[in-house]
Amino acid sequence: MAQEKSSFFSHATLEKNIGLMIVCCILVVLFAGLVQIVPLFFQHSTTEPAPGVEPYDAVRLMGRDLYIREGCVGCHSQQIRMLRAEVQRYGPYSVAGESVFDHPFLWGSKRTGPDLARVGERYSDDWHRIHLRNPRAVVPESNMPGYPWLAANPVQSDDIGDRMRALQFLGVPYTEAQIQAAPQALSGKTEEDALIAYLQGLGTGIRKALQTQQAVKGVKQ
Ligand code: HEC
Repeated sequence: MAQEKSSFFSHATLEKNIGLMIVCCILVVLFAGLVQIVPLFFQHSTTEPAPGVEPYDAVRLMGRDLYIREGCVGCHSQQIRMLRAEVQRYGPYSVAGESVFDHPFLWGSKRTGPDLARVGERYSDDWHRIHLRNPRAVVPESNMPGYPWLAANPVQSDDIGDRMRALQFLGVPYTEAQIQAAPQALSGKTEEDALIAYLQGLGTGIRKALQTQQAVKGVKQ
């Protein structure tokens, strides 16, 4: 029987031509990626703040910038996954609406240390002070480095307005009054104060909002 003549548009063309195959695979992956990603830009749950989540005040914003400067994200994630073990250890899993004011977000991907998305109010400020200066003073087996200089450095308050304006440009709803008041809020604070304020706020807004919602619904906690 004579072999059927295959047209250019048959499967055989694709299978026998590795270059074409690669190009088509890339197109399929790109398209599939877009189908997954693009709808998220238009979903309110990913673009609107989650309940209780508010823009960082000046001190916490400074603390966040120090968290970035010191590279804490290299060892700590801020993203609790929907796995039972994680939820039991850290608390309710993270939702996209918690990161809408984070530019850049600090989800991280490395967990040499624990996830910090819900660390706010878990320890006292004093615990953090001791821990940041020398982690082994409170956790003997810790391999986290100490950051003793944070306590000695006053925060730089002169450019906080610019930092807030940059975020305002990216959509964070800071008011002019908040920006004007920011340098005053930072005066007399050390870098350690700011970083601790940031840590103590992590995950607390949404936790309180959820607790209120549950209390309203009468759900037992
Ligand atoms: C080299 C990796 C590493 C770096 C960098 C690092 N940490 Fe840690 N961190 C750890 C480890 C490991 C632990 C667990 C032991 C401990 O509590 O010290 C930890 C614990 C913590 C805890 C307690 C968390 C809990 O739930 O008990 C906090 C808060 C913390 N780190 C904050 C920071 C901050 C803020 C920075 C940046 C200034 C930082 N870490 C940088 C490794 C690191």
